[in-house]
Amino acid sequence: MSGQLLNTVDLDAKLQDQTPQQILEFALGEFDNIALSFSGAEDVVLVDMAHKIRPDIEVFCLDTGRLHAETYQFIEQVRKRYNLNIEVLSPNGEAVRKLVTEKGLYSFYEDNHQECCGIRKITPLRNKLLEVDAWITGQRKDQSPGTRAQIPVIQNDKAFARPEETLTKFNPLANWSSKQVWDYIRYNDVPYNALHDQGYISIGCEPCTRPVGPNQHEREGRWWWEAATKKECGLHQTNIES
Ligand code: ADX
Ligand code: SF4
Repeated sequence: MSGQLLNTVDLDAKLQDQTPQQILEFALGEFDNIALSFSGAEDVVLVDMAHKIRPDIEVFCLDTGRLHAETYQFIEQVRKRYNLNIEVLSPNGEAVRKLVTEKGLYSFYEDNHQECCGIRKITPLRNKLLEVDAWITGQRKDQSPGTRAQIPVIQNDKAFARPEETLTKFNPLANWSSKQVWDYIRYNDVPYNALHDQGYISIGCEPCTRPVGPNQHEREGRWWWEAATKKECGLHQTNIES
């Protein structure tokens, strides 16, 4: 099936009690043209689960050009382990050149991360999502009390939909805790990013990610110079709008 308009509010109520695997089965049963957005962190659980349902699941990563070496190595490890053609999406070279020429390589510490994220993540994501009818993310409610406490399992993604068309977004891990994710990784011997053994929990770009200390929330390791309610780069714009 493709591009159909689902009643996402009713479906969300029904899917709330389902496991991530059941949600993925539903998503992949409804949509042929669907892609999984993989960040190179603990959302690898979704690659493992989806691969068991559809071995050639379409997976893409947004390569901002600023990821850790460990993340690049990990993406490659996942590609080989699951025999997947992971699509690695680059930002527009001219837009990056203009930004770093005019503002330098670390402008996000001085103004904020929106402009750099806009060029390196959001525009490539927007272009990618023009090609699909639905996408899957690894967002969880417990990742960010400031912005993700209400995320649904399934939603109508109005932020990235093509004009006059529908884009459905699935967040199969919405109701899972970090502990459940890590139990799954360990129990199923799923490969994981080496940075997780160095104190990193939430992992994004290298200059905007740092390890967290005891009792710090994982989101405190991301864009730490900005307010908790602003810690969304725009990939999940609906979190801020809602
Ligand atoms: S972010 O918006 O703050 O960067 P986060 O790191 O919490 O997002 O990841 C949540 C989900 O967003 C991931 O599970 C993944 O689906 C998607 N995502 C984040 N970063 C990337 C990336 N570089 N490439 C592809 N998907 C990503
Ligand atoms: Fe740029 Fe930081 Fe956003 Fe990465 S997370 S795109 S380096 S501002």
